[in-house]
Amino acid sequence: MPQATFHFPRGFLWGTATSSHQVEGNNRNNNFWAWEQQPGRIVGGQKSGLACDWWGGRWREDFERIVEGGQNAHRFSIEWSRVQPTPDRWDEDALDHYREMLRRLYELKITPLVTLHHFCDPLWVSELGGWENEAIINLFEAYVKKTVQALSEYANLWITINEPNVLVIFAYLLGTFPPGKKSLSSIGRVYANLVRAHSSAYHTIHNVQPTARVGYAVNYRSFIPSHAWNPLDRMSASLASSVFNNAFPGAINDGVLRLILTRKRIPEARGTQDFLGLNYYTRDQVVFSLLHPEEHFIHLFLRPGAELSTTGFIANEPAGMFEALKWGTQFNIPIIITENGIEDQDDRIRPRYLLQHLHQVWRGINFNWPIKGYFHWTLVDNFEWERGWTQRFGLWEIDIETQIRKKRPSADLFAEICSNNKISSEMVEKYAPQIYDQMFPGL
Ligand code: BGC
Repeated sequence: MPQATFHFPRGFLWGTATSSHQVEGNNRNNNFWAWEQQPGRIVGGQKSGLACDWWGGRWREDFERIVEGGQNAHRFSIEWSRVQPTPDRWDEDALDHYREMLRRLYELKITPLVTLHHFCDPLWVSELGGWENEAIINLFEAYVKKTVQALSEYANLWITINEPNVLVIFAYLLGTFPPGKKSLSSIGRVYANLVRAHSSAYHTIHNVQPTARVGYAVNYRSFIPSHAWNPLDRMSASLASSVFNNAFPGAINDGVLRLILTRKRIPEARGTQDFLGLNYYTRDQVVFSLLHPEEHFIHLFLRPGAELSTTGFIANEPAGMFEALKWGTQFNIPIIITENGIEDQDDRIRPRYLLQHLHQVWRGINFNWPIKGYFHWTLVDNFEWERGWTQRFGLWEIDIETQIRKKRPSADLFAEICSNNKISSEMVEKYAPQIYDQMFPGL
């Protein structure tokens, strides 16, 4: 059997990613908590509840898991509703809590990547109209300034907004996130406010901390026309890609927000990025279909025959990772893979998903693409938004009744990769022998 080792560059960031609402618990003062209390919003009426009890202190034991897992970085987020519970009050204790977490990461020699907004808004911000009201730009800027001033001693890698594209589509087009709108007409306004909020946050962070490196994280989804010969399928795929993948990054790149037939100039946004945060999970087939008016005639589905995650939410499509990275190179800035993972309760697919996706990352590195790190989603199973606790993305499994964590085999595999800064044929043989021939083809 052929053998090989895929090395990663020295200093590569290896970590896991988490977000405040998904792990902290008792985030009662934000719009997602309120959403969870409404019947029919979350699968099975599930709630975030205590989540992974990080606010209660269990981040300490989970940080030990990061170290044990050979990782040298961690991405986590700050909860705006905790830092600024009402418009006129900063909660210094909450900031101290985050400072303590960062101090611990510093002691453990783990590089933090801090996200300032991961889907949730304080209730009082939602009551003002949330992302539809341009007042949010200044409100967000004030929160970012306060937070970065408080935490800059221990962090200098920042993500302003996580997945603005997912927020726009889920909250304002599909209606599965609060405020649950299904309104094509809101999309342009919300996208513009997100672009402007990001760009003013970018400048604010640099003013507070000149050495900061600032970006946002986009969720890149690969859209493949179901019938390559069919111009309508091709047009639908390219439309989906332009609204989902390209709108926000395009506006940050050149200061023009392009949405289908409209263009809006936001010149101050131009170049407000020091790196690209890239989240990649899966790929869709796209068909133009008159049978799906509720989807605006653009029907998406996972490739028939593809290997699917436990609840069928994600198809294992590693080629899409390569495509995402290649797409990311157009911006000529460093790329950090800020999320990638699969929901897989029994860890049936995760080992090969991980290896196959990292193999694509390695291929990109060999083209000399500036890929600087990889953050796996996620450390411990956590609250999966409108899908509640039905989906298990963790390297560690959690029993939410007892808070007991149990290691999945993928945690050991990831630890071997991170601590050796490489993928070896021995690892593939040990954790995912089914893909050995595909990763190391013989004659
Ligand atoms: C989000 C995470 C989420 C993950 C898996 C990403 O879009 O940023 O918050 O848990 O997908 O669904």
